[in-house]
Amino acid sequence: MERTFLAIKPDGVQRGLVGEIIRRFETKGFTLVGLKFLKPSRELAEAHYDVHRERPFFAGLVEFITSGPVVAMVWEGDGVIASARKIIGATNPLNAEPGTIRGDFGVNIGRNIIHGSDAPETAQKEVSLWFKEDELVDWQPDI
Ligand code: CMP
Repeated sequence: MERTFLAIKPDGVQRGLVGEIIRRFETKGFTLVGLKFLKPSRELAEAHYDVHRERPFFAGLVEFITSGPVVAMVWEGDGVIASARKIIGATNPLNAEPGTIRGDFGVNIGRNIIHGSDAPETAQKEVSLWFKEDELVDWQPDI
């Protein structure tokens, strides 16, 4: 079964959007298999955003993601990687469709509320970076 990594960023937490965001993935029908609330270390943030290391916004991005607690999650389900990206919306909230998380709640690319893995390889890398294997719960809803 496919898994993806999602993180509600410090702006999403500070704006009280945690429940609303989790609700969207639950009601869609995906299964939560990992959940933790933490203030990421600089080391974790730099490893997570390693692909952006040469970008001009890298330092600010790491600064921001380490500035407060985030909700790190692993969700499971058929097609969950691509579907979660649709539910989240375009990277720049100004381009995100209404009805998506970023389209409904954001206006700033540097404060875009939530991160979602963009492909199977990234999902695998991000899940193992943020979670140990024994922190993930192997279960299926009985419905
Ligand atoms: P995310 O999905 O977490 O992946 C990389 C992040 O970099 C992205 O969301 C944005 O928050 C951030 N980002 C991308 N482009 C820019 C930019 N031009 N300026 C500031 N932040 C950016």
